[in-house]
Amino acid sequence: MELIEDLDVLDEDRVRQREAGDAPDEDLDRAKHGYDATAGDKQVYIETYGCQMNVNDSGIVASVLEESGYGLTRDADEADVVLLNTCAIRENAEQKIRTRLGMLRAEKARRDGELMLGVLGCMAERLREKLLEQEDLVDVVVGPDAYRDLPRLLYEADATGQAAVNVELSKQETYQDIQPVRYDSNGVSAYVSIMRGCDNMCTFCVVPFTRGREESRPVTTILSEVSQLVEEGYKEVTLLGQNVNSYHYTDENGASVSFAELVDRVSRVSPEMRVRYSTSHPKDCTDELLKVHRDRPNVCNYIHLPVQHGNTEVLDRMRRTYTREEYLALTERAKELCPGVSLSTDLIAGFCGETEEQHEDTLSLMEQVRYDHAYMFKYSERPQTYAARKYEDDVPEDTKQRRLEEIITLQNQHAKESNEAEIGRVHTVLVEGTSKKSDEQFFGRTDTNKGVVFDREDYEKGDYVRVRIDDCTSSTLLGTALEKTTLEEAARTNSITTTPVAA
Ligand code: 5AD
Ligand code: SF4
Repeated sequence: MELIEDLDVLDEDRVRQREAGDAPDEDLDRAKHGYDATAGDKQVYIETYGCQMNVNDSGIVASVLEESGYGLTRDADEADVVLLNTCAIRENAEQKIRTRLGMLRAEKARRDGELMLGVLGCMAERLREKLLEQEDLVDVVVGPDAYRDLPRLLYEADATGQAAVNVELSKQETYQDIQPVRYDSNGVSAYVSIMRGCDNMCTFCVVPFTRGREESRPVTTILSEVSQLVEEGYKEVTLLGQNVNSYHYTDENGASVSFAELVDRVSRVSPEMRVRYSTSHPKDCTDELLKVHRDRPNVCNYIHLPVQHGNTEVLDRMRRTYTREEYLALTERAKELCPGVSLSTDLIAGFCGETEEQHEDTLSLMEQVRYDHAYMFKYSERPQTYAARKYEDDVPEDTKQRRLEEIITLQNQHAKESNEAEIGRVHTVLVEGTSKKSDEQFFGRTDTNKGVVFDREDYEKGDYVRVRIDDCTSSTLLGTALEKTTLEEAARTNSITTTPVAA
């Protein structure tokens, strides 16, 4: 603390010197930031847990640290600083990170303490100082809105030997000016954050506590990041936020920009850039947005619409603000306005007070909607949430497990049937890279977000390829490449051929 105060004095002196034009550059950095902004040749390793938002945030952290002179390494053994970007959404996510911290404790001991460890993100926000007491090995604890402060915190922890913490949540911070380092990217698909936080307060969810209030990023900075990605050769962008459909921003002309308007504007940056987004709340999925899916050929015909449960009373206790019937009407509307639209969802089994009949309602809703994909979870009580404070987590563990397995079994069956119906169709597939099993095969995705594997021949990563689907598993389509195409060309010829093409 003293150290920083001293530097505050230095600050004024240096700024005066700078104005007079006689302060050396490194001194100016030091004066501006109150610490030595160059990190020498220190290497940082960032490990990311949880959602896509965290993947993007790790890119922001990497960008902030690179700017301060840190190097990035993919090898934890080479690193001087290891940062875990954490997730707190379910108990097992936190457990995984505790186990990892245990391993790093051993590594730190092996290196005689010459390794700095940081806990970033949602778990840092949730546990704060407790993390320092409990783990006794963490040097920095940094919440999701404090990443700009990371170089100072690392400096402070290093200089004082004491842990440094910043878990302040901010209503303003959207990291709007920071281009994330896309170091784990395939060079084809990129995430672009458009908003942070969530105001929904679903009763089971810890996110509003760990990530704070909703804040939308300015439209112009989003559009310029997407333009930059086009220039770098990216072909697909996923707009990210905890609840993207509630995006709203008043632009420089005083005009209010809704999420539908934003998606439309992003889709006009380049006709060859596919646009996706994640994740959305059914209450904000408007006709205006569905029409953007219908009218813009490069906005994918795929919507993730987390329902969470199939019973209205449970939805009410979850504070989801829609009924089963309203949700079903929305999916019907989506299918009507966007023929062939692919829907996916999130489902929670065994929420507080869930009866057997209510669980059956989830299964029957799945039968009605027929999702192509679902993320399925057992309810996990999270401290601070309304459910933890007011409801009893009363569904026995084995019942939760059995209900989850029933949901998974049904979903696998639906996915398999949906994939089987694709055999004979032709899809425009964006090639993301080689398949996991063979370098001789490519993996890519259809407009509807289904994974396709086919022989690579002379095609290249980043190509749009017309692929005929010949076979499938419940998770992947297997096909034959027909020809290279463009999105504009595919839109003209309506790439999905429903009649089987002769082999
Ligand atoms: N228990 C289980 N699943 C949860 N999710 C959020 N909170 C919990 C919880 N306490 C799930 C929801 C959400 C997804 C990101 O994680 O399905 O949509
Ligand atoms: Fe959590 Fe609900 Fe917000 Fe999603 S919408 S992040 S489930 S509170």
